[in-house]
Amino acid sequence: VIETDLLAGTGSLLLGVIGDPISHSKSPAMHQAALEALGVPGSYVPMHVKSGQVGDAIAGIKALGFRGINVTIPHKLEVIPHLDHLDETALRIGAVNTIVNDKGVLTGYNTDGIGYVRSLKEEAAPDLKGKKIMVIGAGGAARGIIYALSLEGPDRICVANRTADKAEAVAAEWKDLADIRGISMEQLPAYLRDADILINTTSVGMHPNVSDTPVEADLVPDGIVVSDLIYNPLKTRLLAEAEQKGCIVHGGLGMFVNQGAYALEYWTGLPAPVAAMRNAVLKSMS
Ligand code: ATR
Repeated sequence: VIETDLLAGTGSLLLGVIGDPISHSKSPAMHQAALEALGVPGSYVPMHVKSGQVGDAIAGIKALGFRGINVTIPHKLEVIPHLDHLDETALRIGAVNTIVNDKGVLTGYNTDGIGYVRSLKEEAAPDLKGKKIMVIGAGGAARGIIYALSLEGPDRICVANRTADKAEAVAAEWKDLADIRGISMEQLPAYLRDADILINTTSVGMHPNVSDTPVEADLVPDGIVVSDLIYNPLKTRLLAEAEQKGCIVHGGLGMFVNQGAYALEYWTGLPAPVAAMRNAVLKSMS
């Protein structure tokens, strides 16, 4: 049961998401289904906020008594100066996707990377300890994931990127946490040969460019875990080809659902109804 002092004096839990664009977000459908499954009275609303108006939006969140919001593209960095605290993960990634409002005191979190790792462990690779991991891409999505993976005790994380300098910069940031190295796409085949897990964080293969793939299937070792952050399509060309080689494949839907699950748990203190959330996203996609 939810504590009544979280209910904004209205008897209703107020939640939402700010972004630009926002109309295609699947977060409202997912969180509304979660509130229903939990039996918590409340609303999760999409809010269209333009760059330059993030500070005003955050002041509004406080004045209106929102318990929490998600922050999506392009505001994950811009929102930071308007918050009172950042948790360790958000601080180290340098981006916020979830805000908790505790009686007017705002704390920023980043649940993207930890949501991804929770999904990967539950759905494909239960133990990441001692594993050799290959991450393709070094953009915003990769940053959160590499940070979260580095806390799991991997043997090694390789970051391969089209722009190799960016891979090296990301690797340098967290080398205190794990053996992380940045490499070029030319070096990828040599390191992929003995990898246990391959993760695509780039947009290569995303709808509508479904015939693209970030790495040719003949370079992927048989039977390893192959994960793709893309969830439209649910099974990318990379995953379909890997599956044919006997790989354990993991799509991006679980990351989206679990970043939301962590956010909901921060807002409510209740365990998230993950299955209901996943079903709501699938329903909104069909
Ligand atoms: P996101 O927040 O989704 O990670 P991003 O920060 O723009 O978006 O990063 C996109 C990532 O996908 C980068 O690693 C990018 O490579 P570059 O750093 O070389 O730009 C990678 N990427 C995007 N399109 C690509 C393509 N056609 N081929 C290879 N890599 C691509």
